[in-house]
Amino acid sequence: MNEDVIILSIETSCDETACSLVRNGNEILANVVVSQIESHKRFGGVVPEVASRHHVETITVVIEEALETAGLTPADLSAVAVTEGPGLIGALLVGINAAKAFSFAHNLPLIPVHHIAGHIYANQLEEKLQFPLVSLIVSGGHTELIYMKDHMSFEVIGETRDDAVGEAYDKVARVIGLPYPGGPHIDRLSKEGEDSFNFPRPYLEPGSYDFSFSGLKSAVINTLHNHRQKDLEVKDADVARSFQESVIDVLTKKTMQAVADYEVENLIIAGGVAANSGLRAQFEELCQENDTKLSIPALKYCTDNAAMIGAAAYHLYNNKAFGGLDLNGRNYIDIEEYSI
Ligand code: KG4
Ligand code: ZN
Repeated sequence: MNEDVIILSIETSCDETACSLVRNGNEILANVVVSQIESHKRFGGVVPEVASRHHVETITVVIEEALETAGLTPADLSAVAVTEGPGLIGALLVGINAAKAFSFAHNLPLIPVHHIAGHIYANQLEEKLQFPLVSLIVSGGHTELIYMKDHMSFEVIGETRDDAVGEAYDKVARVIGLPYPGGPHIDRLSKEGEDSFNFPRPYLEPGSYDFSFSGLKSAVINTLHNHRQKDLEVKDADVARSFQESVIDVLTKKTMQAVADYEVENLIIAGGVAANSGLRAQFEELCQENDTKLSIPALKYCTDNAAMIGAAAYHLYNNKAFGGLDLNGRNYIDIEEYSI
């Protein structure tokens, strides 16, 4: 049997309302993403209630647009996939209820997908995943190192003990006075500055692959406040550069240590912060020296989208890992539970 598997996938875990149609886990037939960033900007971060309301207003439109773009009808589909979590519960529920209704109305299997699995599988939209691999997930909500020996087999080997790296970027950017989300602004500004502050590198205890960014974030914010209080001149670009260098040092050292210890030849970097130019450049250099294959999805698949959910769902479909109509959103789910 060689039938195509076409999955309609929905992602609403944070501030993007997204729907995609993906064939056989890697061919994108439609990818619709409606971002709410403009609405959250004035609050300096995502407001959960505002996010849920926008999802409610937009979800039907993105599903219709995805089907229209692909020129498909529900009769052409094999399944409906949706992000089950982790994420903002009210936001998740909008996508989940839309997916359940669609699945019920068209008699299609429902596939619950872990958001982080989606970020990793974004890479499959460009090339086949090669196992074993280590994946570093760096986004606004997550900082995790995951070891995979095969498809849909997840072992969390490191994670943040406090702030996610994107969250630290966004908070530091806010104190500097940059708009939300701050990551891309710090990235840009850091190119004009020097690492003159030499902020702490929080490596934690030897042997641990965990991360901690709240101390670094506080060090940056305190430095800025102290300078401002004393009316001392401080170059924002130097602060941005110094912060970014500390983040890059920690992320790359811990990750390359994991690559060596787990004896993998493939490294995937995913999530919104994977867009960072300094981080990419440093990983490229280290992986080249180390003969490690580095994969970073295209920018638009690094940030939240539904195509990545459809890519991961393909393997769940093949394993008949379906959910029932009692599916609920969960703000935290251990990805190891998803291993099949
Ligand atoms: O994956 P994502 O779109 O959403 C979550 O699942 O969280 O990641 C968003 C995060 C934000 O914190 C944003 O500031 C950060 O990714 N980000 C960056 C860059 N582009 C986006 N951080 C550093 N450098 C960038 N170029
Ligand atoms: Zn995400």
